Amino acid sequence: MYKIAVIPGDGTGPEVIAEGLKVLDAVGLKYEKIMYDVGAERYKKTGEVLPDSVLDELRTVDAIYLGAVGHPDVKPGILEQGLLLKLRFRLEQYINLRPVKLYPGVWTPIKNKGPEDIDFVVVRENNEGLYVGEGEFIDKDTPDEVAIQISRNTRKGVDRCLEYAFDYTKRRNKGNTLTLVGKTNVLTYAFDLWERAFNEMGEKYPSIKRDYAHVDATCMWMLKNPEWFDVLVTDNMFGDIITDLGAMTQGGMGIAAGGNINPKGVSMFEPIGGSAPKYTGKNVINPLAAICAASMMLSELGEQDMADKIENAVMDITANKLKSLSAGKMGYSTQEVGDLVVAAL
Ligand code: IPM
Ligand code: MN
Repeated sequence: MYKIAVIPGDGTGPEVIAEGLKVLDAVGLKYEKIMYDVGAERYKKTGEVLPDSVLDELRTVDAIYLGAVGHPDVKPGILEQGLLLKLRFRLEQYINLRPVKLYPGVWTPIKNKGPEDIDFVVVRENNEGLYVGEGEFIDKDTPDEVAIQISRNTRKGVDRCLEYAFDYTKRRNKGNTLTLVGKTNVLTYAFDLWERAFNEMGEKYPSIKRDYAHVDATCMWMLKNPEWFDVLVTDNMFGDIITDLGAMTQGGMGIAAGGNINPKGVSMFEPIGGSAPKYTGKNVINPLAAICAASMMLSELGEQDMADKIENAVMDITANKLKSLSAGKMGYSTQEVGDLVVAAL
């Protein structure tokens, strides 16, 4: 019996999480669900974003299933930093695992590429880099203003991320190639460390081919030759950016899922699309990203059979049922898509 904390969150979060839970029930997972109402509504009522008491409870569960964070009435940054980033940091979820996989029957904007070409995984460092929130203003609001934003990269933080990435590449056993994505030609401190650490760590993994690509070239190749990639590892900011690009190539935000992983602690799984205020409450948002996040959660819990069952059901309906993966254009409502997945299990 697993203990799963559920944070439906804001916007369309609750709608997609409801479908994910429906699928978890149907696949036969035995779990206790602990619901948390943190997010914009609670913040607006009480001023609380993520109380320490909640954080402490979350440390005791087997996994966290998160819908979305962000609301038009709340100043950007408050919920993102106070809830999402705080969870990632305080629970030391130092990996953000983001598969980019084009499922059968799904439209991709890249001409002449199909599911055999678009199938790679981004391992995004999730606790450091520009996301640490360090920096300062000098002479704020004057013509001489300077704003400094620090990218912090610790050897230990980089090493643990690289170790996960090498292990993951080995476990995946597909192309057995790990590409470091960086910018060694400009970020001569940060990516000097990353590159040294990458090559040293790589010595311990003789079966894994090491590759390096600048982040700008990576964007180019993700569109031109996505089949070149197997597993990519990169820092927090670059990982954030290239995974939105990756998501579009796999059919959009309606399908893209991610895991915030602490390999020795509590991990958190989410659709990466955000709260989509425009579609909230309309029963038109695509729940497949949330359902895929549930599948990733099962995989991390060690329930690989159930995880595969869900992923296969998703592939079945993208191939045979859905007209599109975009909100409002699927040919089915949010709830009907959840029902289709359940039927296909
Ligand atoms: C993501 C999101 C977050 C990030 C935001 C909401 C803080 O874009 O999960 O990719 O930048 O990490
Ligand atoms: Mn992002």
